[in-house]
Amino acid sequence: MKVAIDGPAASGKSTTAKIIADELKFIYIDSGAMYRACTLKWLEKTAASKSDADEKILAGIINDLKIEFTDNGKTIFVNGKNLSNEIRSSNVSQNVSYVASFEVVRNALVEKQREFALGNNVIMDGRDIGTVVFPDAEVKIFLNASAETRAQRRMQDLKNLGEEPDFDLLVAEIKERDRLDSQRKIAPLTKAKDAIEISTDDKTLNEVTQAIIPEIKKFIAE
Ligand code: DC
Repeated sequence: MKVAIDGPAASGKSTTAKIIADELKFIYIDSGAMYRACTLKWLEKTAASKSDADEKILAGIINDLKIEFTDNGKTIFVNGKNLSNEIRSSNVSQNVSYVASFEVVRNALVEKQREFALGNNVIMDGRDIGTVVFPDAEVKIFLNASAETRAQRRMQDLKNLGEEPDFDLLVAEIKERDRLDSQRKIAPLTKAKDAIEISTDDKTLNEVTQAIIPEIKKFIAE
């Protein structure tokens, strides 16, 4: 069966999905990590200078891109190298919405995401999982939180990576990413009609996971 967890940046999707995957023995796939991996490769080639050649550059990157997850989705290998920390850098975060807006990137990564799920019980998080990747997912969750709550979480993640982020800048960056992810032409961030929306502002992680697990168990018991 398939469980889709969508929502804006830093709404708690991946932390929640990892806990549920471990508890229910599902395969966890972090689709955002795949867009980040592609962005890291684009940054290596272009040093972040956007140009009309990007469509062609990204087609080349996608052609060579090999993504593998280990440790149930917690570690990502990109072309044979563990880049789990590198894909979380601020530079990648600031450019990933741009890279993820290209059709050539989305088509290839959506195909890969569907391949990962084939024949497995999977929980996948992202922006378009319940709407585009698995419109037939048995359980769809849309996690949300205010930009300030999300910036606070991102701040802690970045401190853990050794960065010293500025809170106000993070709030602005998150709002900008919401805008780009929601307004892009292909597969924008939007709540699927049949998704259950959960606001995580005033909930503990445990409360969020305990709200979702019974929804999944309804299908496992069948
Ligand atoms: O979940 P995240 O913050 O790691 O995702 C990084 C970016 O990747 C996000 O800003 C938009 C893009 N993304 C996407 O377009 N579609 C997905 N299914 C997942 C992520």
